[in-house]
Amino acid sequence: MAQGSIRPRRLREKTLVRKLVRETTLAVDDLMYPLFVVHGRGVREPIGSMPGQSRLSVDELVKECKDVAGMGIPAVLLFGLPAHKDPRGSEAYAEDGVVQQAVRAVKDTVPDLLIVTDVCLCEYTSHGHCGIVEDGTVRNDPTVELLARTAVSHAEAGADIIAPSDMMDGRVGAIREALDEATFTETPIMAYSAKYASAFYGPFREAADSAPQFGDRRGYQMDPANAQEAMREIALDLDEGADIVMVKPALPYLDVIARARMEFGVPIAAYSVSGEYTMIRAAGQLGWLDEERAMLEALTGIRRAGADIVITYFARDAARLLERGIR
Ligand code: PBG
Repeated sequence: MAQGSIRPRRLREKTLVRKLVRETTLAVDDLMYPLFVVHGRGVREPIGSMPGQSRLSVDELVKECKDVAGMGIPAVLLFGLPAHKDPRGSEAYAEDGVVQQAVRAVKDTVPDLLIVTDVCLCEYTSHGHCGIVEDGTVRNDPTVELLARTAVSHAEAGADIIAPSDMMDGRVGAIREALDEATFTETPIMAYSAKYASAFYGPFREAADSAPQFGDRRGYQMDPANAQEAMREIALDLDEGADIVMVKPALPYLDVIARARMEFGVPIAAYSVSGEYTMIRAAGQLGWLDEERAMLEALTGIRRAGADIVITYFARDAARLLERGIR
């Protein structure tokens, strides 16, 4: 006989019992789908480093967003690739910038989908850094001004949620103030609060053509070794008016998500980044693991750690599986 009368397996044998006692749910409601928008028409350009993802022109994006909304996915996160890059990332805050055009078009045609916009300069600057570069370093305060302008231009286009990803100090406060001044007092900010200087962004930088032309981002993104500092960053962003805070990447930082969940009673998003996606996709394509199961397990793990919102390139695939009741 097994030790004593306690047998945890009693609750594991039957599928329906397992369902009944399951502690964590992964639902389509939790998902946010990142998309890349480019200039042009009829463009659907596969991204080499991210199999299954494409850069879309505005007309194609609108179609994609209709599909996504139809699947019940509540939100997309938009990234833009500009026509021209310059040192100040001008297209980031241009009224007719690619993201601004995209937001208007999607808002016009797909009413039941939230449009979240990434606010950063790295896709728009010729040097590929997330801000204004002077004397070889990224200058904080002049950058913050441009980020606030970018945020307002997104809100004017109709963005539902503004998501600053640059990691400059004080940018959440400055964006809040600028939005309020422009009468967007009701537009929430989802702050990339604990964003680490991660190798797992590699495939994204090819997708968004945003790799820094010199140096790296360790002067502004967080050191992967630090967790205490993540709590400080989150607290600061909340003080400055963030409505949702984010931990990014997700899988190598589940402890940071869990700790944020314990310490802060606010909605937490976790960004399962491009490298997390490609690891699972590539291993699946090679036949080295079961891609569908690995995907759902990874996303469920992120939820179990404490994330309310899971930002993932697998959103469509996961939604399809969840719809069929697979988990
Ligand atoms: C822009 C930004 C990046 C990502 C999201 N916003 C790239 C970076 O910081 O280098 C990465 C997303 C991903 O890897 O999926 N600053």
